[in-house]
Amino acid sequence: MAEKPILCVGLVCLDIISVVDRYPQEDTDTRCLSQRWQRGGNASNTCTVLALLGAPCAFMGSLATGSAADFVRDDFRHYRVDLTHLAMHPACALPTSVVISNSTSGTRTILHAASNLPDVTAADFDQVNLSQYKWIHWEGRNASEQVKMLQRVEEHNRTCPASQRVATSVEVEKPRPDLYQLFGYGDVVFVSKDVAKDLGFSSAPEAVKGLYGRVKPGATLICAWAECGADAMGADGQLVHSDAFSPDTVVDTLGAGDTFNAAVIFALSRGRPLPDAVSYGCQVAGRKCGVHGYDGIV
Ligand SMILES: Nc1ncnc2c1ncn2[C@@H]1O[C@H](COP(=O)(O)OP(=O)(O)OP(=O)(O)O)[C@@H](O)[C@H]1O
Ligand SMILES: *[C@@H]1O[C@H](CO)[C@@H](O)[C@H](O)[C@H]1NC(C)=O
Ligand SMILES: *[C@@H]1O[C@H](CO)[C@@H](O)[C@H](O)[C@H]1NC(C)=O
Ligand SMILES: *[C@@H]1O[C@H](CO)[C@@H](O)[C@H](O)[C@H]1NC(C)=O
Ligand SMILES: *[C@@H]1O[C@H](CO)[C@@H](O)[C@H](O)[C@H]1NC(C)=O
Repeated sequence: MAEKPILCVGLVCLDIISVVDRYPQEDTDTRCLSQRWQRGGNASNTCTVLALLGAPCAFMGSLATGSAADFVRDDFRHYRVDLTHLAMHPACALPTSVVISNSTSGTRTILHAASNLPDVTAADFDQVNLSQYKWIHWEGRNASEQVKMLQRVEEHNRTCPASQRVATSVEVEKPRPDLYQLFGYGDVVFVSKDVAKDLGFSSAPEAVKGLYGRVKPGATLICAWAECGADAMGADGQLVHSDAFSPDTVVDTLGAGDTFNAAVIFALSRGRPLPDAVSYGCQVAGRKCGVHGYDGIV
């Protein structure tokens, strides 16, 4: 039987990236080294990396229509991401971000534009045949709706044959208290550095130890912290750490977090133990920091 795909639920947007060798001064006129369009959005980037690693995957989210949206859809297809659960919204604007990527330091500065594209609702998710997926990952957005989706998977797991159970993961990336209810769902919870800091922690190991009590019994909590690598804790309560794997030159950290999440999900979904999965996540994310975009990370 063919391997079942991993489904990622969240946002896709267009990143308009200008590469500079030094951050521009306000009210100046500077030439950049290069410019490019790139498909962005956390769940969308996670799909790109899963596909590059060789996992069949699908994206569930909303898309506007028009030439920028066509670019985004063609790029998903280029990476062979399944779009069965893409909902088209002709009256909406595609979310876009302007990104200044400093290729000397590897930092990225992002300006998000507002969008009226609706998030996936629990009613949309009811249309998904859960038995077709091996793993479902959510980018934390509309938490109250997403909790209902996660509860649907829990119910499915309770009633279906063992071979059709679905594993789940959740990313809590934005420091918004309404998203923090998501800690209590999902077999794997990714908490970002921003959220950890918002909750009063100043390192990944502190955050993992301090927040483990919020995840459901037996779940795994993972926190990545840029050049410090990542820490995690699973059901056995042991703290797991991996150092970062820095490339010779850091040229582009945009999407490093999404790359880390994808590589960890990939490894865990293939049964690798948590320490291996966290180390693999740091290795793939480190390679991503050494290249522009995602090609060349595998
Ligand atoms: N400067 C860096 N050098 C080496 N590895 C890095 C660097 N930045 C990020 N990483 C790797 O990427 C992983 C994820 O980092 P983190 O989540 O902090 O990225 P981020 O900067 O938030 O990325 P994003 O653009 O997705 O927001 C880290 O665990 C680390 O392994
Ligand atoms: C995706 O995640 C990163 C942090 O990992 C964040 O800085 C970025 O703004 C997110 N992108 C979107 C479109 O939410
Ligand atoms: C859901 O998918 C499974 C596995 O592919 C299939 O056997 C089943 O018939 C599907 N159910 C529905 C309602 O389509
Ligand atoms: C979440 O989704 C529901 C249903 O679509 C909507 O009514 C609500 O306003 C959304 N909340 C947020 C914070 O987007
Ligand atoms: C679904 O089933 C898997 C496999 O048995 C289990 O590990 C997991 O905890 C369940 N997930 C949810 C969200 O119920």
